[in-house]
Amino acid sequence: MKLPNRRILITGAASGIGKATAELFAREGAQVALLDRDGDAVSTVAASMSDARAHVCDVTDHDAVGKAVAAAARAMGGIDGVVNAAGIDLIRDFATMTPAEWHRVFAVNVTGTMSVCHAALDALSANATASIVNLASGAGLFPIASRTAYCASKAAVVMFSKALAVDLAPSNIRVNVVCPGAIETPMLRSGIDAAEDPPGMQEAVRNRVVLKRIGQPADIAAAILFLTGADSTFATGSTLVVDGGRVFH
Ligand SMILES: NC(=O)c1ccc[n+]([C@@H]2O[C@H](COP(=O)([O-])OP(=O)(O)OC[C@H]3O[C@@H](n4cnc5c(N)ncnc54)[C@H](O)[C@@H]3O)[C@@H](O)[C@H]2O)c1
Repeated sequence: MKLPNRRILITGAASGIGKATAELFAREGAQVALLDRDGDAVSTVAASMSDARAHVCDVTDHDAVGKAVAAAARAMGGIDGVVNAAGIDLIRDFATMTPAEWHRVFAVNVTGTMSVCHAALDALSANATASIVNLASGAGLFPIASRTAYCASKAAVVMFSKALAVDLAPSNIRVNVVCPGAIETPMLRSGIDAAEDPPGMQEAVRNRVVLKRIGQPADIAAAILFLTGADSTFATGSTLVVDGGRVFH
């Protein structure tokens, strides 16, 4: 087991990458606290696992995040690691995007990630080998059309995480980022389904990947496990791209 008795808070745990991470971490011996704004879905995921609790909260509500993270820490007796997987996409031409849409993407992807890290700080500082893993995206490293807000928000997550790694190193809290490529989750599916020609779009997404396949949530959960566990104790401020070879060429 890679995470025996580790107490990990995972946001966005009701779906996709966050859910796969919660399930993998539980199999690796961790106690997991699942945080999501979708109460029904996160409760269903928690109920399907043996040692998981659901915490319903929107990460854009700073006070609610503080209460949910405190409740998770109380229930688990502390927090050894945080995975920030809650996030939203926005496919919109720049000319038609509204400022409200831009702010919402930043509120969830950037400020929400910050709020959870902030709320968990005291609990994380109380142990010698704590870890934060934030989910950015290949879109934070390489631009995608009609996604100015999403790309900019994910670039912000990358740099926020590097700056936080510097600040938290004296407290022995490591901070790393995973940048997934196209991963088969409800987020990717809704983007593909919104295209004029969904099968054509799916093929175009697949063809951009050197390994010629769309990734699975488990591909990303494995990378998050590596950065959370004891196999990566010398890694902090790093950006691990897991995209089948999309952004490197
Ligand atoms: N799927 C991909 O292709 C892909 C690629 C690159 C990066 N990512 C990133 O990975 C992360 C997970 O994405 P996914 O594909 O699993 O998406 P998903 O839509 O399947 O899951 C996202 C989860 O986050 C939750 N969430 C959204 N907004 C929230 C909020 N304000 N407060 C609390 N919870 C909230 C949703 O309820 C959902 O359960 C996101 O940050 C996403 O940007 C995904």
